[in-house]
Amino acid sequence: MVVLVAENNLSVIRLEIPGRFRDRKGTDSMTEIKKSIKIGLAGLGTVGSGVATILKNSNLDIIKKTGVSIELVAMLDLNFQGKEHLIPEQCLTTSNLDTFLATEMDVVVEVIGGTKFAKEVIEKALSSGRHVVTANKALLALHGKEIFQAIAEKNLQFKFEAAVCGAIPIIQTIEKALPQNSITKIDGILNGTSNYILTRMHEENLGYHEVLPEAQRLGFAEADPTFDVDGLDAAHKLAILANLAFGSYIPFSDVYVRGIRSVHSMDVKMADRMGYVIKPLGITKMKEGRIEARVHPTMIPKTHPLASVRLENNGVFYESNYSGPGSLFGKGAGSLPTGSAIIGDILQIARNSSVQNCFAVEKQFAIATLEQITSRFYIRLMTIDRPGILSRISGILGDHEISIASVMQLESGAPLVPLTMMTHQAIEKNVHLALEKIQSLSEVQEEIVLIHVES
Ligand code: HSE
Repeated sequence: MVVLVAENNLSVIRLEIPGRFRDRKGTDSMTEIKKSIKIGLAGLGTVGSGVATILKNSNLDIIKKTGVSIELVAMLDLNFQGKEHLIPEQCLTTSNLDTFLATEMDVVVEVIGGTKFAKEVIEKALSSGRHVVTANKALLALHGKEIFQAIAEKNLQFKFEAAVCGAIPIIQTIEKALPQNSITKIDGILNGTSNYILTRMHEENLGYHEVLPEAQRLGFAEADPTFDVDGLDAAHKLAILANLAFGSYIPFSDVYVRGIRSVHSMDVKMADRMGYVIKPLGITKMKEGRIEARVHPTMIPKTHPLASVRLENNGVFYESNYSGPGSLFGKGAGSLPTGSAIIGDILQIARNSSVQNCFAVEKQFAIATLEQITSRFYIRLMTIDRPGILSRISGILGDHEISIASVMQLESGAPLVPLTMMTHQAIEKNVHLALEKIQSLSEVQEEIVLIHVES
């Protein structure tokens, strides 16, 4: 009987006792190789290297635990320099997509990123009958509909656990553990870079521009941090989560997005004094038959489960009718955490244990507009300290049906003083309209800061 054993980065064919193999320590293991699955890895960057490293270091353990042997048979990239140690002996390396796909393989792992070539890789992989595993959130958020329409007729699996919060198994949780529930709400810290920056601003009393270079030096933030700090990365992930949670296609352009650049250390301090912490949240909820899907800095009470998710970590808090509230925390990015999620998806394909893909391609519910979203808000404005200004501001808020829950003006002796207010629940559109008017008052200087408050 021939049993395939992966060892030290090589695939080795050995003669063994049927259904058993010897592990490195020479002890008999009762684990059978029940299935061998061939994968092609498209992209050997940060995430691809994580996948190759885990396979190199842990293939034997994977076989022991699951009975599945994962064979890395082909790699697609422009350059393999410095990565030779990650390439198994029999593995084809190529920069040509057609050559890559001509290799016999069951699964294509797409970890190239971006939405152009990656899309071509995925489309060709599917049309050539390969299952696909990807970490590509942008592609799913922007082109998920086309991709899943293309899969509909095929008996293929498309898995994307790594696309949302890296190692945190939130996709599996929604698809496998919770379908008997109606999910009513998901709050997520979906971007590690933004969470890292806000955490350090809060804990060390630093400004955004002091922390950003440090985040870049540590490799959390890109040289151009736009995608992360302006909320787009989190919005991609939220569009996917909302789709799965509510079974309705979410056009990406309907997701409300605001990043963390406008958060000042003064607001972080004020939030702290009021018992809150500012987090970069993605929020999606079903309310009155409409889906809210929004990403913005949000004040949450220090007792909220996500308040303790610090630095570059991610966290997801959900509420559903039968299970009640639940939360998952962990590493949302990085080579090995994301690689781990990808291997988990490959193993599910190998075990044939996948449920039907839940990604919805039809829009079942409308997305709530700003006229339909209500929230509490923190408002800070810098004003010249002059008699009557407070009454004019509260008058404008009142005219827009916005009720003030608390107000504080710090005495500073400076010509400009910060005036902070917390509102009761208010219609978001009204808040924007009122702030436009307040902003135009001659006493109000600098841009008004508006932060959503969740309880
Ligand atoms: N850049 C992302 C983050 C990880 O900071 O969380 C990839 O989506």
